[in-house]
Amino acid sequence: MAAPRTLPGDLAHPFSPRGRVDPYPAYRWLLANDPVHFDVTSRMWLLTGHADCSLVLRDPRFSAAMGQRERVREDALPPSMLTTDPPEHQRLRAPGALLMGPAAVRGVADGIAHEVDRILTELAGHTGVEATADIGEPLATGVLARLFGLPPADHAAFADLARRVSANLDPLAGPQAAAAGRVSMGDLTRFLDERAGGAQDSPWGRLAADDRLTRPEKLGIASLAVVGGWKPLAEMVGNALYWLLPRPEVIERLRDGGDELAVTAVDELLRLESPIPFTARVTTEAVALAGGTIPAGARVLALVAAANRDPAVFDRPDDLVVTRSPNPHLAFGTGTHFCLGAPLVRHAGALLLRELLCRHPGLRATGATPVWAPSLLPRRLDGFNLAI
Ligand code: HEM
Repeated sequence: MAAPRTLPGDLAHPFSPRGRVDPYPAYRWLLANDPVHFDVTSRMWLLTGHADCSLVLRDPRFSAAMGQRERVREDALPPSMLTTDPPEHQRLRAPGALLMGPAAVRGVADGIAHEVDRILTELAGHTGVEATADIGEPLATGVLARLFGLPPADHAAFADLARRVSANLDPLAGPQAAAAGRVSMGDLTRFLDERAGGAQDSPWGRLAADDRLTRPEKLGIASLAVVGGWKPLAEMVGNALYWLLPRPEVIERLRDGGDELAVTAVDELLRLESPIPFTARVTTEAVALAGGTIPAGARVLALVAAANRDPAVFDRPDDLVVTRSPNPHLAFGTGTHFCLGAPLVRHAGALLLRELLCRHPGLRATGATPVWAPSLLPRRLDGFNLAI
């Protein structure tokens, strides 16, 4: 194997504090110069091309299960669908659709509309608004609460648990934060378990009553929806407004456009700034790619945020083109593990954005320019202050 190439000295490594805030210069260099890159810092293979990332996510030689088995867990749940390979994966995923598939989303559509209306009505009374705290998190809480059939009295406790378990998302979270996150997983599981019976007429009630899986397996699916869904959905709102607010002509177009344009815009906004910028796999055997050969047993990161700006696939890759269609972005992954929550994110995200822009035409950023938080996952803004 040739000696690993290193990034030029003036480019911040994408996982360094500076690179986490703006990883795109490093992504661009890697894509142009070393698209199958062995990173000596993380000892992982970083893939930045759209074709390579798609292959990693579709090819069974890249396992989602390997490398996860030794992870310490304190919630006593079996491995989730996200960390299993076929055929076990499909056994878990098919019933999981009862909780978050398209039919589940249709079933709670009126409830989601009610939540969006409530959030936007409450905003009118605020003097200062913070994008995540006042819009994104209430949206994620309201939407997931509808899936779980939670009454309004449970929303605050649910949001608190969801916030705590989200500490597990960031691979850079210190051991203390990660341990606290794992303990919270147990609390979340108990919370959802206690409410399974009372939520019969909800997607969670239907999954809980399904006899294809054991109770711990069903709880594993439910907690995955919260860990994998709540924070990314919450942060998507600020990330989207960051791109939209400086572009009044695009906002005008979205106000006048229909629901379909709003969904197309959500996909484009996720392409440009996805809360989940990468995902990991381990090779089951050596794999030869055009840019180099990855050995067996290697840890591979598909940097979907880089692939989403690959000029070989996207015209004007760094520009917001809300009408972009087709838009083969990888923000929801692709292949076997394609985000099961994608229909929900598209539906709720499009509704929220369109209603927000129509009902609050004076919405604008205030104070200092928002900065990207130095967290790896989710990609999110720190303190994005708005005025209504
Ligand atoms: C903007 C918000 C979201 C983004 C960007 C996102 C992104 C992703 C990505 C990239 C994957 C694939 C990971 C991989 O291949 O390793 C994934 C999987 C998944 N997502 Fe999402 N997600 C979002 C919201 C949600 C929500 C709200 C839910 C549930 C309510 C959800 C449930 C899931 C589940 C269950 C999987 C695992 C699917 C499987 O392993 O078969 N996601 N998501």
